[in-house]
Amino acid sequence: MMLTVAQALAQSGLVPVDAQVLLAYVVGNTRAWLTAHADESLTPNEAARFFSLARRRRDGEPIAYLTGVREFWGLSLLVTQNVMIPRPETETLVERALARLAPDRASHVLDLGTGSGAIALALARERPPVQIVATDVSEAALRVADANARRLGLYNVRFTRADWYDGMELSPERPAFDVIVSNPPYIAAGDRHLGEGDLRFEPMASLTPGGDGLSA
Ligand SMILES: C[S@@+](CC[C@H](N)C(=O)[O-])C[C@H]1O[C@@H](n2cnc3c(N)ncnc32)[C@H](O)[C@@H]1O
Repeated sequence: MMLTVAQALAQSGLVPVDAQVLLAYVVGNTRAWLTAHADESLTPNEAARFFSLARRRRDGEPIAYLTGVREFWGLSLLVTQNVMIPRPETETLVERALARLAPDRASHVLDLGTGSGAIALALARERPPVQIVATDVSEAALRVADANARRLGLYNVRFTRADWYDGMELSPERPAFDVIVSNPPYIAAGDRHLGEGDLRFEPMASLTPGGDGLSA
């Protein structure tokens, strides 16, 4: 039997907003479309994909990993399980950095531990003349960040692998940066929160540097 949009949402076992986001993702439309088409039938393939995602969500997987995107600073960023999901509160860091970057100056910025590229790409969008170097120890994270830069058409960020400052190539003509930003891992290794909620699915190296959490 074909299920309608309303029936699938009701049978998902999820809170309404999660169910709507996942079904909108599956049918390639908006949540508003779902509301206006509550009686529309889903194809068997759409229903199967939706209930598979709903099960993973019930098991705790973050919505952003299920849909592969997360909005940050108005930018739609690709996210995979190789990067931490950008947090809304990190936008405060972007605001603080922007306050130190004149809109018309070709300043130089360093983003240490860039993950999905969230901070670097937000700064690149807001300050086109700025040249940004964004580093991460994870090659897999750098691939996601680079894909985000290309998808957003932001070419004033150079992504490079480095272990904090080790491995960074500083040009002799330009050895310093005007602004250095970082949202480093800072949770203590034994913190119980690492085993709870979304954190269970995020890369451990993006959350804790080990020990008391302060070594990064
Ligand atoms: C808390 S996440 C922040 C990601 C991103 N900047 C954001 O705010 O969404 C910390 C990032 O630091 C990176 N990282 C961890 N250890 C590192 C190291 N030794 N050198 C460089 N980056 C490191 C992780 O791979 C991760 O991407």
